[in-house]
Amino acid sequence: MSVLVTGGAGYIGGHMVLALLDAGEQVVVLDNLSTGFRWAVPAEATFVEGDFGDEALVAKVLAEHGIDAIAHFAAKIVVPESVTDPLGYYLNNTAKARSLIACAVAAKIRHFIFSSTAAVYGEPSQNPVTEDVLLAPINPYGRSKLMVEWMLQDTVKAHDLSVVVLRYFNVAGADPQGRLGQSTPNATHLIKIAVQAALGHRNGMDVFGTDYPTPDGSCVRDYIQITDLVAAHMHALAYLRNGGESLTCNCGYGRGLSVLEIIEVVKAVSGVDFPVRLAGRRAGDPASLIAGADRVREVLGWQPKYQDVRGIVTQALDWERRLHNRGAAS
Ligand code: UFG
Repeated sequence: MSVLVTGGAGYIGGHMVLALLDAGEQVVVLDNLSTGFRWAVPAEATFVEGDFGDEALVAKVLAEHGIDAIAHFAAKIVVPESVTDPLGYYLNNTAKARSLIACAVAAKIRHFIFSSTAAVYGEPSQNPVTEDVLLAPINPYGRSKLMVEWMLQDTVKAHDLSVVVLRYFNVAGADPQGRLGQSTPNATHLIKIAVQAALGHRNGMDVFGTDYPTPDGSCVRDYIQITDLVAAHMHALAYLRNGGESLTCNCGYGRGLSVLEIIEVVKAVSGVDFPVRLAGRRAGDPASLIAGADRVREVLGWQPKYQDVRGIVTQALDWERRLHNRGAAS
């Protein structure tokens, strides 16, 4: 039995590949390297360079490698880009996912894990937000993912496929063993940006909005460490293989931290008082987004290990240094 990981050369998919290999699984990575890195895929995994929307290629991979489960990570993930290029997002995240699901059904694959997002909630009316609230994404990125959730819901009713949908909150940190981290150039994520500012790789940073209805006026998010996030996928895989029914779970800690709090932690951990500019709001940011995270613990038996935000920031700092040295060396 092998697991097919689409997007396995990227940040989250790459950590999933490490977790699968650590657990002794056979892994096939399918990645077109549009944002992922060939060097991020360990030699123990089989690497196929290509697009998950290429049905002929996917059918061949599924047939040749004895795949029993697909973990689908490959996606475009930049919210502002989804606003300027909605059709690109609906093609890549939605239409190509339909092709992948069709290939899975045709090949009689039984298990499917889908990377969804808290962006399906939009501006939630309650926080923490639970899985069963009315979904109202406010940007094409969230809609492109929600449509896949719907396709999967309908597919499991019609075919012998069981699916775990995981809705990620704000993923952060790096592999505690230092093997991988967030490597995308021009990243927009808060902790990555703050860490780059601390290391002098950028000239300070902006806080996007200090007039939100939150305790300190800056946005509140639920930052989940990458290894903990990937552990939820490993539990999902075991759950599906044990005959578990299709399921949707939030992935977060149920804890909110503000932008200003995160910046303080990065300053404290790095020991660098980098410049911080209080700027206007960024379009499309909800004030507060915190996971109602009971289901992932109760049904999948997930137990997080790396909630300490100082630890998350330390990992991000260590990885950013490594990445910088790697760039300087090449
Ligand atoms: N922020 C700053 N300054 C920066 C970068 C970010 O103040 O330089 C703020 C943002 O405005 C936001 C918070 O930090 O308030 C977190 O921003 P991120 O870009 O790190 O993350 P988002 O919450 O915008 O996005 C995350 C995922 C998306 C997903 C979204 C769901 O990265 O993929 O959650 O709301 F769609």
